[in-house]
Amino acid sequence: MDEYLQANRNLWDEWTTEHEQSPFYDVPAFKAGKDRLRSIELEELGDVRGKRLLHLQCHFGMDTLAWARRGAIATGVDFSERSIALARSLSQELNIPADFICSDVENLPAVLFGEFDIVFTSYGVLHWLRDLKQWAEIIAHFLAPGGIFYIVEDHPFMRILGAGSETELKLANPYFFPGPDKIENVPSYATGGQGDMHTFYIWNHTLGEVINVLIGAGLRIEFLHEFPYAARAKFDGMKKGEDNWWRLTRQDGLIPFLFSLQARKTKQ
Ligand SMILES: C[S@@+](CC[C@H](N)C(=O)[O-])C[C@H]1O[C@@H](n2cnc3c(N)ncnc32)[C@H](O)[C@@H]1O
Repeated sequence: MDEYLQANRNLWDEWTTEHEQSPFYDVPAFKAGKDRLRSIELEELGDVRGKRLLHLQCHFGMDTLAWARRGAIATGVDFSERSIALARSLSQELNIPADFICSDVENLPAVLFGEFDIVFTSYGVLHWLRDLKQWAEIIAHFLAPGGIFYIVEDHPFMRILGAGSETELKLANPYFFPGPDKIENVPSYATGGQGDMHTFYIWNHTLGEVINVLIGAGLRIEFLHEFPYAARAKFDGMKKGEDNWWRLTRQDGLIPFLFSLQARKTKQ
């Protein structure tokens, strides 16, 4: 593992400890039966009962376990040892069966065997990956013939904007950059700006790149949807609606915050 991945893995070990205590992840509510799966993936992925579901970059497994609660035969993967240890302990404590594997996505074919009906990944995953071509090939590798890959993720367009508040939205970052981009002295998104400061590395991936690597890996794109709302406040002044999505107040509907995509491994 190189210095970038090592730094990011240390970060995610530290963030796991912060996130376990955070209202953002609200572990006590999850233990009481509430989960954080959202309307987009619930409606688009539909009935998962009896399906073998592989969840890439599962963090400490709450969404993996939420799919398992809905009847999926779930396997979660993450490269943070602390995340996977916490996921396993939640699985045991709540008596929700699921497998959890500690692995870098890049190394997964060396440690996990078998095939899956669904490969799922969500909300804040792509910019941690440096090689998206390899990522897509790994997804295709684990899909059973006819199986689907599903992602719901931050829209890469949104990352070009920076602002202190909605009224000051401006172009702040490039859309095209290879990375790694070193991000210094920022707290976790889950701690409301109150957590410890950290340094980490990210890579940017355009929407075109995401689509093309999946096509290149032999998958057939079935849909791509874009949404003008976010899963959390991305800029000051955004408001959470009754539907739990965060929207700009003055410029609602003008900017894509999320996308979802489904692709299928054809049968031959
Ligand atoms: C923002 S979280 C995933 C979001 C998840 N939906 C959630 O809200 O809990 C990103 C996850 O990716 C994991 N991760 C980052 N780079 C990875 C890599 N190269 N291989 C495996 N996991 C990785 C981190 O440990 C972290 O748990």
